[in-house]
Amino acid sequence: DLPVDELIASIAVDVPDFPEPGVVFRDLTPVFADAGAFRRVVDALTEPADVDPRAAALSGGGPGFDVVAGVEARGFLLAAAVALDAGTGVVPVRKAGKLPRETVSAEYALEYGTATLELHTDSIRPGQRVLLVDDVLATGGTLQAAIALIEQLGGVVTAVAVVIELAALGGRQRIAPHPVHALWTT
Ligand code: PRP
Ligand code: HPA
Repeated sequence: DLPVDELIASIAVDVPDFPEPGVVFRDLTPVFADAGAFRRVVDALTEPADVDPRAAALSGGGPGFDVVAGVEARGFLLAAAVALDAGTGVVPVRKAGKLPRETVSAEYALEYGTATLELHTDSIRPGQRVLLVDDVLATGGTLQAAIALIEQLGGVVTAVAVVIELAALGGRQRIAPHPVHALWTT
């Protein structure tokens, strides 16, 4: 069996000049479409908090998480699978205007302009331990905004896990002091 980083690297497809000239886009859709690779990825994403979250809650300590949060849109594919596997619920961190009830919102920088993420105010309870999942860590703006929302509601981000970290873009520094668990750093 290949190590998970080599497995992902062998299946992901590099797309030159997407979404604009000069950018090489790492396309993970073939990784998610491959049953064996998807299983390995979902398992590996829980590693930083790798303990049965129900058991951890009962024992009152140790690492773990009570809920999984995923970032729209590609993070949803992963967060739901991780949560189902772990026996927790899943909470969507959504782009602006999608959630129907009271929300908290955080703006973040895009290459040109800004975007906004939102979270239902009752989706995270104070003290809840959250595993935050997304597919790619690039500049870190997206995950930084998601962390700010979870913490605003009193949640504790016990782990941040991504499939790919694009190290040259400095996202890890931006998310610090939260450690990022990346399955493949490139
Ligand atoms: C991509 C990716 C991450 C984010 C990473 O999502 O899925 O969420 O960008 O970039 P950053 O670290 O520089 O913030 P995108 O905003 O393209 O949305 P999508 O999932 O709806 O395609
Ligand atoms: N691949 C996938 N998603 C991304 C990338 C990438 O190279 N950069 C920013 N989001």
